[in-house]
Amino acid sequence: MHNAAFAALGLNWRYLAFEVRPDDLRAAIEGARAMGFVGLNLTVPHKLLALKLVDALDPSAKKWGAVNTIRFESASVDGRLKIRAVGFNTDADAIVAALRKDLKLKLRGAKVLLLGAGGAGRTAALRLAMEKVAELYLVNRTRSKAETTATEIQERFRSVRVTVGYPKLAVDLLINATSLGLKPGDRLPLDEKQFPLKQARAVYDLIYRPAETPLLKAASKAGRQTANGLGMLLHQGAKAFEIWTGKPAPLEVMRRALEMEVYQSTVSSPQSATQLKKGRS
Ligand code: ATR
Repeated sequence: MHNAAFAALGLNWRYLAFEVRPDDLRAAIEGARAMGFVGLNLTVPHKLLALKLVDALDPSAKKWGAVNTIRFESASVDGRLKIRAVGFNTDADAIVAALRKDLKLKLRGAKVLLLGAGGAGRTAALRLAMEKVAELYLVNRTRSKAETTATEIQERFRSVRVTVGYPKLAVDLLINATSLGLKPGDRLPLDEKQFPLKQARAVYDLIYRPAETPLLKAASKAGRQTANGLGMLLHQGAKAFEIWTGKPAPLEVMRRALEMEVYQSTVSSPQSATQLKKGRS
């Protein structure tokens, strides 16, 4: 999506993927700096490690405690020009952008059931609380992790009613932030006896590969509005693009390139997915 966006804007830039072992992350960042890279994206498990390896953290990285984007900037240090690495986080805002665009949801005042309290689940919960959702229900296999996130929300966002466990009544949105659905044959990430899917107005799965997880399939069958996590991947990328280039991201160019790459097709229909690699940004 980045290469398509560079081409659309006439920039002679390239976005390349490199596999780096965690032990080599410092050397990789230094190497990119020395070679005049404009910036980097980082994915799991580097997002936390990078916090300590950059020269400065943007407020977004401080707030969410993870770095997924680095920009190399010139700065004058003691009268000499130096290149410093600044860490950003574009993941957290991407979930809100994707929910708004793909599900046309109004988050303020909404009731949300969130499945999963790992890294992605915690960030999603806190970001939704920041949007002033009215009620947040947190469910996780390891209950203590959901409780820790609930306590963090209660301390930071007092207006949000947080409950650990399934809601008794209907919700506006159900989000899957667990990894259930990534592998073929995975079971649903929720207990339908405790919460029937038809009690959710809309269902969002952070997973985008496969495009239609068992959860999204069941939700569509129940007549619910659905979207997968491709929008999150798009929006975190678009924000990173803007950080590096200082120009508005050509969103539709990027979306088309992403769909083509991930689903090997120009249509965004969930059925077009064939890829089985891990599908989370
Ligand atoms: P990420 O950074 O992608 O969120 P993670 O931090 O490892 O990855 O979180 C994975 C999430 O999927 C967690 O909520 C995890 O539940 P636990 O906290 O109990 O580990 C959830 N998960 C993974 N496998 C699961 C399974 N088989 N059943 C239920 N939940 C599962």
